[in-house]
Amino acid sequence: MEVKLRNPDRIVHVRGPMNVAGVLQRLDVNPETVLVISNGELVTKDHVLADDARVEIRPVISGGAGPARCHACSCTSVIEVRRHRSSYCAEHFIDHVRSQVRYAIDHYRMVSYDERILVAVSGGKDSLALWDLLLDMGYRVDGLYVGLGIGSYSDRSEQLVRDFAARCDATLHTVDLATEYGYDIPAATALRRRSSCGVCGLSKRYAFNRAAVERGYDVMATGHNLDDEAATLLGNILRWNTPLLSRQSPCLPAHDGLSRKIKPLYRLGERETAAYCVIKGLDYVVDECPMVAGNTVLRYKDALNELERHSPGTRAAFLFGYLERARDEHFAVTASRGGQVVSCGRCGQPTGVNERDHARPATCAFCRTRERVLVAVADRGAPVVREHARGAGAPA
Ligand code: AMP
Ligand code: FES
Ligand code: ZN
Ligand code: ZN
Repeated sequence: MEVKLRNPDRIVHVRGPMNVAGVLQRLDVNPETVLVISNGELVTKDHVLADDARVEIRPVISGGAGPARCHACSCTSVIEVRRHRSSYCAEHFIDHVRSQVRYAIDHYRMVSYDERILVAVSGGKDSLALWDLLLDMGYRVDGLYVGLGIGSYSDRSEQLVRDFAARCDATLHTVDLATEYGYDIPAATALRRRSSCGVCGLSKRYAFNRAAVERGYDVMATGHNLDDEAATLLGNILRWNTPLLSRQSPCLPAHDGLSRKIKPLYRLGERETAAYCVIKGLDYVVDECPMVAGNTVLRYKDALNELERHSPGTRAAFLFGYLERARDEHFAVTASRGGQVVSCGRCGQPTGVNERDHARPATCAFCRTRERVLVAVADRGAPVVREHARGAGAPA
C-alpha cells in the first residue's frame, strides 16, 4: 500500500494487507497523535488496509508523524516538551526557557535588578544554565563554587565553572570544605551512614548562606529544577514532614542572618536545562556524582519519571498545585511559626533554639555534624584531611 506521511510530506510503501494499528507500529507513529485516512475516509485501528490501498497519516498535534514543527515559527524543531505539548526550534526554545525563568522571578518577586545575586554553581547543567540565564537577563550576579573534595569529579566540575566565569568575565568565589572546615565529603563516609549526601547537602547549605551573608549579597540562588523540587516534595509528603513542607518554596525570604534563597529554575525540567546548555554551547559535567549511591531523592525521581512517561504534565501539576494551592492553605501555620533563631555558640551562624534544652548554648547542625565527622575520621586513624582554618571552632 502507499502511505502518505506529513511534516515533511513523503510517501512510503508497506506490504498489505495489514490493519491500521500494525501500519502505525511499523512506521513508529504514536496512534494518539494522528488521524488515518484511507480512500478519503477515516479508519480506526482494527480496519484492515488492502495491499493496493492509498492511505494518509495526518498529524493532529505536534510530535505526530515526521519531525515536529516549532510551535512558534513552524520550522523544524530540535526539542519536544511533552508537558507543554509543544516543540521548539533552537531560538524559540531559548525564548521558552527565558520566559519560564522570567515568570518564576516575577511571580515570586525573587530579585530586582539593583540587588546582588550569588549563584551557587556546581559545574552541572542546571546551575551553569542559571548563571548564564541571569547574566543574559542583565542581573548583577556572581558565582560561588564549593569544593567538596570528591576526586576527579570535583576537579573537573571546578574547572568547568572556572572556564565559564573566565569566558563570561564574571566573578567567581570559591570555598574549599577541607581548607575551611577540615574535612571533605569522602571523609564523611567515616560516619558509616548509608549515603554521604546528607552531610554534603548540610555542608553546602551552610557554605552557601555564610558566603552570601559575609560577602554582602542580597540573594542566594541555586539551580534546583522542576524534577528536583517535585522529587523533594514527594519525599516530604511520603513522610509528612510538615516543617520541610512549609519551607519548600521557590523563594524563601531572608531572616535572622539567613539569606533570601531563590530557585528560578523550578519551572524547568532537567531535560530542558540540559538542552539549554547544549544549544548555548555550555560545557557541563555530565557524569553523576560518584558518591550518590543511597540517595533517596533519586528513587523519587525515578517514580515520578515513570508517571510522567505515561502522563506528561503530572510532575508539574504535582509541584505547582502544591505551591499554588496546598502550601499556603494547609502549611502556613507551620511556616509562620518559624522558631526562635540564635547564634551558634561555635561559629556564630544562625541556628534554631534547642526547644528541649534552653540552658545549653546552641550549636548549629553544621557544627555538630562537622564535629562528628572529625571525631570519626580521627577514630579510624586516618589523618584529618587538612588543617582546618577559620570559623567553626575545633571539635570538643
Ligand atoms: P544538588 O544538591 O547537587 O542537587 O544541587 C542543587 C544546587 O546546589 C545546584 O543546582 C547548585 O546551584 C548548587 N550546588 C550543588 N553543588 C554545588 C557545589 N559544589 N558548589 C556550588 N554550588 C553547588
Ligand atoms: Fe554531594 Fe555527591 S555532590 S554527595
Ligand atoms: Zn521557532
Ligand atoms: Zn555552628
